[in-house]
Amino acid sequence: KSQFKVALLGAAGGIGQPLALLLKMNRYVSDLSLYDIVNVPGVAADLSHCNTPTQVKAFNGKESLEAALEGADLVVIPAGVPRKPGMTRDDLFNTNASIVQGLIEAAAKVCPKAILNIITNPVNSTVPITAETLKAAGVYDPKRVLGVSTLDVVRANTFVAEAKGLNVKDVDVPVVGGHAGITILPLLSQTQPKVNFSEDEVAKLTDRIQNAGTEVVEAKAGAGSATLSMAYAAARMAESVLAGLSGEGNVYECAFVDSQVTELPYFATKDIDTETTTERKLRTSLEAHFSEDLTSKKQVISEEVKRYLAEADARAN
Ligand code: APR
Repeated sequence: KSQFKVALLGAAGGIGQPLALLLKMNRYVSDLSLYDIVNVPGVAADLSHCNTPTQVKAFNGKESLEAALEGADLVVIPAGVPRKPGMTRDDLFNTNASIVQGLIEAAAKVCPKAILNIITNPVNSTVPITAETLKAAGVYDPKRVLGVSTLDVVRANTFVAEAKGLNVKDVDVPVVGGHAGITILPLLSQTQPKVNFSEDEVAKLTDRIQNAGTEVVEAKAGAGSATLSMAYAAARMAESVLAGLSGEGNVYECAFVDSQVTELPYFATKDIDTETTTERKLRTSLEAHFSEDLTSKKQVISEEVKRYLAEADARAN
């Protein structure tokens, strides 16, 4: 199979709209379902005028969610609220976790075999929520649940190329860890092609990569957080997943996974259900290398997730 159906949930948002455009231009996407709780008809009408073969359909409002998910091979989720002034990280987490949970419950029912790419922040926590929701529905497969933190890789590649005067197309910097501030761990020593950095460069580049989100928030001066670069990174990830599904791809994007497997990178591979020897080696060596850090981080995250689930249960009862 070389043509796929993609459902984009949160399609009318700041990330959703440019991501819809990039998916409309993707040669693997034959059908694109755009779902949001508002404004989808306009976005879909506008996009449908672009002369690429991808068929665009609009699904506006909660009652059309299941129809949007029908037959989806890949579900990409940027739905949620961005962090607003005065909002704590907990507020953001509670609101977005319940949005993601609702969307995943529907996906578990309608397209249980679809690959899920979660963008909604805090992604370190919305991914475990996704896993728990799928477990409750009895359709959990860790290999199909991918948090999209590839924006950190995209930024690392760009900043390293800039700092070293390299062609940005050639540079590949692996980034592991989480997707927030100091939990983002760019492995500059593993940059391809091999590049030498001074200690000062490592410190400066690491700091810039870890705080790149804030750089955008400040430049936008109250108008939101990264949307265009996030959409680009998510489109790259979707392309890799679809290339993998079609059998054309090789290794691809690196994202972190669920609470069980910890926050280590997971590699969507040629066959999404297998891990090559190289990938396994890389994963095991990273696990060994970062065990302390990641173990403690995992506990923080699962505490947060546990609390949310307990509160959601209490509300339901
Ligand atoms: N179902 C579907 N869509 C929803 C729902 C829901 N339950 N709730 C909100 N949305 C939609 C909104 O209608 C909006 O169109 O999600 C979209 C979010 O868009 P923006 O508010 O513009 O936010 P954006 O900048 O795109 O960020 C979205 O991604 O990076 C993360 O932190 C960011 O969590 C935030 C998310």
